[in-house]
Amino acid sequence: MKYQIKDLALSKKGKLRIEWASNNMPVLNLIKEDFKKKKHLKNVKITCCLHVTTETAVLMDTLKSAGASVFLCASNPLSTQDDVAASLVKDFGIPVFAIKGEDGKTYYNHINAVLDEKPNITMDDGADLVSSIHKERRTLIPYIFGGTEETTTGVIRLRSLENSGKLLFPIIAVNDADTKHLFDNRYGTGQSTVDGIMRATNILLSGANFVVCGYGWCGRGVAMRARGMGANVIITEINPLRALEAVMDGYTVMPIQEASRKGDIFVTLTGDISVIRKEHFLSMKDSAIVCNSGHFNVELDLDDLVKISIKKRKIREFMDEYTLKLGKRIYLLGEGRLINLAAAEGHPASVMDMSFANQALSADFIFKNRGKLNKKVYKVPKDIDSRIAELKLRSMNIKIDKLTPKQKQYLSSWESGT
Ligand code: ADE
Repeated sequence: MKYQIKDLALSKKGKLRIEWASNNMPVLNLIKEDFKKKKHLKNVKITCCLHVTTETAVLMDTLKSAGASVFLCASNPLSTQDDVAASLVKDFGIPVFAIKGEDGKTYYNHINAVLDEKPNITMDDGADLVSSIHKERRTLIPYIFGGTEETTTGVIRLRSLENSGKLLFPIIAVNDADTKHLFDNRYGTGQSTVDGIMRATNILLSGANFVVCGYGWCGRGVAMRARGMGANVIITEINPLRALEAVMDGYTVMPIQEASRKGDIFVTLTGDISVIRKEHFLSMKDSAIVCNSGHFNVELDLDDLVKISIKKRKIREFMDEYTLKLGKRIYLLGEGRLINLAAAEGHPASVMDMSFANQALSADFIFKNRGKLNKKVYKVPKDIDSRIAELKLRSMNIKIDKLTPKQKQYLSSWESGT
């Protein structure tokens, strides 16, 4: 078996951590039991470009239990958990190509290594796999039934490919399922981003001015959790509706130029480029902390930061100090890469349970409908989304009400009013 990981000897620690994650993923485990009985993905090759974490390991095991051949590479150079990669190879027999801290060239070599397997289904987080296929590996297209995409940024890229008429196979936008973005993006990113900042800095959030750039589902989650820790949260936005929502949620809203003078900590989660740039770094307070929790490391303009700095020192793991010309210091966390996965462990298993249940059932859907889907970006079918919500509630031992026949009838009629 071919693979490329840091050290196979790390597998023991990885195996125990995967076991712990699995304990907190009841929905995915139910799917795994079902897949194990059916073995319906025999001879299907699934190539995955995902963050190599304990939760991803449980997903890989689930797909393998259906008989699929699974291949995994990293979806970010800094998010790989090397012990998990080792255990996936040693204990689960799954080829992994990922090493934490790999450079850009190695990152793409790893993507190409999994693509060499000629996948039938692709599973992406950020669309680097699908874009590599469209740019350089088009000979693979005839083998591919379809792909899935995990994240907001990836779905935006793939919709743009679709809109330009160049998408060459069907994609299921897992991110757009309610049981994904309403929970993973909000509660997962919320908790794990604050966790990453705390692990990287050990600062007190209480009383700090905490600037959240972007009030999408991820920004909402981070703002909510930072407020819960006692921070004064400031939101920056470009979308009037979201800005208004932030105001009515009780946050202070202002442009980034103004916020840059006030903030002690800055987090970007916008999905766009150069959100914090030269003019903002220059007006920050001494010792401001900046980080990113959006998918790509483009939200902080690091070229600008380097240009205006005269010195750089590593202070702690995942923390670099940049000294500007007039002596002011800025602390950059996790090289501007997703701080929740670089400095912490990503979203907790309990929320990834729903995201990865969507992934597993979407792969199943692609297989069942192979040859019948168009070259489009599809939503996760509603019945899959609802089933996952039901199973999650059941796993939490929470019961809900049912409509009475009279209530059902009322909701389907127009006659009764005032
Ligand atoms: N994305 C965010 N958190 C994650 C996790 N724990 N595993 C895989 N992908 C993630």
